[in-house]
Amino acid sequence: MHDSILLFGATGDLAQRYLFPSLLHLLRDRLLPENFRVVAIGRTQHDDDGFRAWLRERIDEGDGYSGALDDLLSRIRYHALNLNDTEAMAAALAPYADRPAVSYLSTPPNLFEPACRGLKAAGLLEPPSRLVLEKPIGHDLASAREINATLKEALDESRIFRIDHYLGKAPVQNLLPLRFGNTLLEAVWDNRCIESVDIVVAETAGVDGREGYYADYGALRDMVQNHMLQLLALVAMEPPAALDADSIRDEKRKVLRALRPMTAADAASDSIRGRYGPGVVEGRAAQGFKADSAVETFVGLRAWIDNWRWAGVPFRLATGKRLPSRTTEVLINFKPVTHWLFDRPNARGATPNRLRMRLQPEETIELGLMGSLAAPEWGATELMPMSLDMAMLPPKRRIAYERLMIDALKGDQTLFVRDDEVEAAWRWIDSISAAWQQAGTPVHEYPAGSWGPNGAEAFLPRTVGAPSGRRG
Ligand code: BG6
Repeated sequence: MHDSILLFGATGDLAQRYLFPSLLHLLRDRLLPENFRVVAIGRTQHDDDGFRAWLRERIDEGDGYSGALDDLLSRIRYHALNLNDTEAMAAALAPYADRPAVSYLSTPPNLFEPACRGLKAAGLLEPPSRLVLEKPIGHDLASAREINATLKEALDESRIFRIDHYLGKAPVQNLLPLRFGNTLLEAVWDNRCIESVDIVVAETAGVDGREGYYADYGALRDMVQNHMLQLLALVAMEPPAALDADSIRDEKRKVLRALRPMTAADAASDSIRGRYGPGVVEGRAAQGFKADSAVETFVGLRAWIDNWRWAGVPFRLATGKRLPSRTTEVLINFKPVTHWLFDRPNARGATPNRLRMRLQPEETIELGLMGSLAAPEWGATELMPMSLDMAMLPPKRRIAYERLMIDALKGDQTLFVRDDEVEAAWRWIDSISAAWQQAGTPVHEYPAGSWGPNGAEAFLPRTVGAPSGRRG
């Protein structure tokens, strides 16, 4: 396990909210090596003590962490650097080439190239050092390819770790064990038994503070290209021959490559775009996103995977900001039984089976079944939908980045996205952007606090927002 991390973007929002708190938790739980050290790099001028004081003010994990916080701060050195000044960067960072390091670029993608140049000049990209990158990896296929090519000039793919923080979430890691650890599920996991799949990522948060970035990206590029397509790939992939990183990533890539490109003719039926206007979310007034913006904050898509297993099964993807509740879930909607036996005068119709895997805010799995609680006073057998509910209660709920940081330090790439996956995802996303442009797909306004624009219902499960069955 490497024991030296260089954190670029150390004064940024992600570092404050997730990266340093993750390191703090890992240190407290003694999951980091004895000599672990952090070299923090940002643009703001601070000396070591100044940065430590600045960070201390921003991390509030409560008293239980005060000892660990002192420990973490004492391991941090800070450098204010302009990444475009390769010479200065090399001079400042060369002393840290004494140990194999993980350099973590939590910076905008236009800094990847200069950062690599400086790191290389400092001797910090020599094997077995590694590089971790935050999204976005480009803006479209062409720019993603350019970034990947630049990275490969600096080091090879086996040492490049592209983050998709959804892969660090425990319930996302549970998708493969659920699918491939259960005869019961895998036997029915295809177009013979499954009618459709829903993947929903609903957020109450708005774009706040990231208007500039968002106006360039929109929900399609910000959420679908990465998080939602990773969920789709894990739900739809074939069983890998082994559990090593490349066997899993090979299978995910195959699914992404089988996504049917969208054409302008399909844009109206297979997609919808919305942008939130003013409204009320969770009882609080919320402003609208820039009215002159051309990007969407809500997107609904019907995706088709053109392969043997999924032919004819729609995957509905929906994500939006400023929706009524925070809900991330994957629903597997099974087909109705082939013949319905129970039509009696007072019996209800069938509710097809459904598997609901809720990732956020609570982690639950629900299986909807049909059954009956026959009682003499009811006369005929009355069938009713029943639910098998399970709350996933991990020993400790962790920030997704904790797992990802540990894996990067260990060198395990399983939960990181490979170059060809990123490119396959962009190829599909580009087809949608082009279809929208050609078809002139409008962006409809929806009030903040509603479930998206008119027509969004066709892309959302009927039960969206309904609480899961059980929490405890
Ligand atoms: C980020 C997006 O990658 O994921 C954000 O840039 C989004 O716009 C966030 O809010 C959602 O992550 P989570 O873990 O809160 O579901």
